[in-house]
Amino acid sequence: MRSLLIAFSILALALPQARAQTSHHQHQSAPHRENAMHHHREKSSHHQGKAAPSVQQGATYHPNTPPGVQIANFGKSQSNVPIKLYTLTNSNGISVNLTNYGATLVNLWVPDRRGKFEDIVLGYDSLTPYFTNSPYFGATVGRYANRIARGELNLNGITYPLPINNGPNSLHGGKVGFNKRIWAAQIVSRKEPAVVFSMTSPDGDQGYPGALQTWVTFMLNNQNELVILYEATTHRPTVLNLTNHSYFNLAGEGNGKVLHSLVRINASRYTPTDAHLIPTGEIRSVAGTPFDFRTLKPIGASIHQTGGNPIGYDNNFVLNKPLFKQFGFAAEVIEPNSGRTLQVFTDQPGIQFYTANFLNGTIKGKGGKKYPQYGAFCLETQHFPDSPHQARFPSTVLYPGDTFRSVTVYKFGVR
Ligand code: GLA
Repeated sequence: MRSLLIAFSILALALPQARAQTSHHQHQSAPHRENAMHHHREKSSHHQGKAAPSVQQGATYHPNTPPGVQIANFGKSQSNVPIKLYTLTNSNGISVNLTNYGATLVNLWVPDRRGKFEDIVLGYDSLTPYFTNSPYFGATVGRYANRIARGELNLNGITYPLPINNGPNSLHGGKVGFNKRIWAAQIVSRKEPAVVFSMTSPDGDQGYPGALQTWVTFMLNNQNELVILYEATTHRPTVLNLTNHSYFNLAGEGNGKVLHSLVRINASRYTPTDAHLIPTGEIRSVAGTPFDFRTLKPIGASIHQTGGNPIGYDNNFVLNKPLFKQFGFAAEVIEPNSGRTLQVFTDQPGIQFYTANFLNGTIKGKGGKKYPQYGAFCLETQHFPDSPHQARFPSTVLYPGDTFRSVTVYKFGVR
């Protein structure tokens, strides 16, 4: 975790600058883009003929990019705005593709224990299906990740109606959430490759009060950690819950179900829900329930006892934290065949463990592969669902003058 501290100091240095630039320019200024491209050309010619040291030949379609940041075109938005794909590559050959459409994580290439690289996140090869046919693959979710009951937000005596888009409730920020927005992008570091996406959500956007300025920074360091830093400010009191909705399959995306993957979640308690996945308000011990992941357990071990419709995990776990907002270990996953591991760290109070219950094989993802039910898991760091209706849950209210700041780290490894 020492690397994290370094990462933070880099980000702390880089961000005020990035913020000044992005708040004035909605899109990266031309000189910057040219510099980035130039940098890319230099890098690639420098690396010509010698692959990054740990990129193995076994990798079938690994992009094999040199360390640093690359920018490519990723098509055009529905409103005809050019959308970019940013590749962050570390010195171990791990690389992540991010697009400024939805501040979305598109591909994530990591090695198995033999050094074979595979893409471990579900998604699409091209931009267009993300417009209408994505169950939040890799997306930045906002303004409010997960559900608000009846789409009813009461704040300081005023009721704000939110879009109802999931049964009787409002899900993931409404019909046109942050996952469907075009974000400005700025490369903030090439040494520890990092890109910051920023966006202003206007007052009243999807019913929510307050103009909200949001920054989401993705950084990939050489300790194989993908660091995601969320920041936001508002001009009127509002509520906020931001997360990343990556669907992981550590055996490789499209490579069957995740039921054999072993999971541990640092949570002694969870928030039980009603039939529409709204927390009842109770904070219940996981002991003796299918939600007990305090020690490593295959996802499939007790999935059929979870109830729910469709059956599977789609629950908020209350992370064990000695101190509120303390950054620490949240969860880990081990895929026994490939040996790939994922660890999640966060300062958020909760994590949504979702086993892609709503997938059913109809979506054809990358390479035309069909994604089955339980073909992935999500570990969405967050505040608890429907917090605005639960006085006992940590508050999601953001006030003018305050800056929301939160960090989540996905760390990749093998064993
Ligand atoms: C979250 C929710 C799920 C589902 C997915 C998107 O994880 O908790 O119920 O809505 O997003 O399909």
